[in-house]
Amino acid sequence: EQIKKGSYDHYMQKEIHEQPHSLTTTMRGRLKDGGVLLGGLKEHLKTIRRCRRLVFIGCGTSYNAALAARPFVEELTGIPVTMEVASDLLDRQGPIYREDTAVFVSQSGETADTLLALDYALENGALCVGITNTVGSTLSRNTHCGVHINAGCEIGVASTKAYTSQIVAMTMMALAVGSDQISTQARRDAIISGLTSLPSNVSDVLKLDVGMKELASSLIDSESLLVFGRGYNYATALEGALKVKEVALMHSEGMLAGEMKHGPLALVDENLPIIVIATRDACFSKQQSVIQQLLSRRGRLIVMCSKGDASAVCPSGSCRVIEVPEVADCLQPVVNIIPLQLLAYHLTVLRGFDVDQPRNLAKSVTTQ
Ligand code: G6P
Repeated sequence: EQIKKGSYDHYMQKEIHEQPHSLTTTMRGRLKDGGVLLGGLKEHLKTIRRCRRLVFIGCGTSYNAALAARPFVEELTGIPVTMEVASDLLDRQGPIYREDTAVFVSQSGETADTLLALDYALENGALCVGITNTVGSTLSRNTHCGVHINAGCEIGVASTKAYTSQIVAMTMMALAVGSDQISTQARRDAIISGLTSLPSNVSDVLKLDVGMKELASSLIDSESLLVFGRGYNYATALEGALKVKEVALMHSEGMLAGEMKHGPLALVDENLPIIVIATRDACFSKQQSVIQQLLSRRGRLIVMCSKGDASAVCPSGSCRVIEVPEVADCLQPVVNIIPLQLLAYHLTVLRGFDVDQPRNLAKSVTTQ
């Protein structure tokens, strides 16, 4: 039943709309008595707490999910996190130590680059943790411990529901690793309560479907689309742009808004569409100033903001605005990616491309 499209035209569309449910199954049985219980990590929590650093390793969307998790993992555990694209770690033969915990993120658990990086980290003596959607996969068998994200089978080549479930699984991992810290108890409680209401926030944001279709129709002839994010939502910018390029076959780049003035600003004119993610968090006022700088160069802006913030982000009324529900800051990437998934989906259909089997791509890349 799971592998049928039901009332949907495409698997990608079905998987986008399934997210309230897939997130629920990711969390099922794991939020207990005000804490988090992850059976697959229990025995190793002490070792992880003592590690010198966490190294997050993945490819494509899974890498982006790890990048989304990085800020709150650092915050809740106090352990430095370094990011590694699997192929790049191998190319550099980058240093991995016995005192490291290497966290491998992969929907399929079979991506060749990720598995080779796993062999490399095992040879170097690191504790290896797997975050995967596929029970019995090579990744889940060859790691020391891990978390299954339980998002259900994902068929569309462009990963959607696995991305949001990976972020939630990594949130729970951070909560579990940080659970011995008294000073962050209130913060952890707030995040757990945010997790509980997340599926209903995601149902809310899915109501933007029609609006995203309209936005897509205004962008079908664009050659390029930039997405600016920062902080918790830097990964959202990268992942939104990845969705647009892989399925809609439109050039798109996600960028750190803090780097805007160091190059990307030169591209800004009245034709190039730019999405700016400016939902409420500690970086909000910085994003307001980015928007002002882009508007003063006559940028064609689409701003994603928290509900009720349209005039705070764009007082002149000259931007197109996407308003999303506000959730705990570190969970906002789960909500914010959804309009961008919908946008990529509709752009693809309107441009007449194959949604579920994009040109030249495979769901699982099992060769190097
Ligand atoms: C391929 C897929 C992507 C995916 C990446 C990593 O490139 O087309 O959608 O994000 O592999 O896959 P994994 O199964 O390791 O998450």
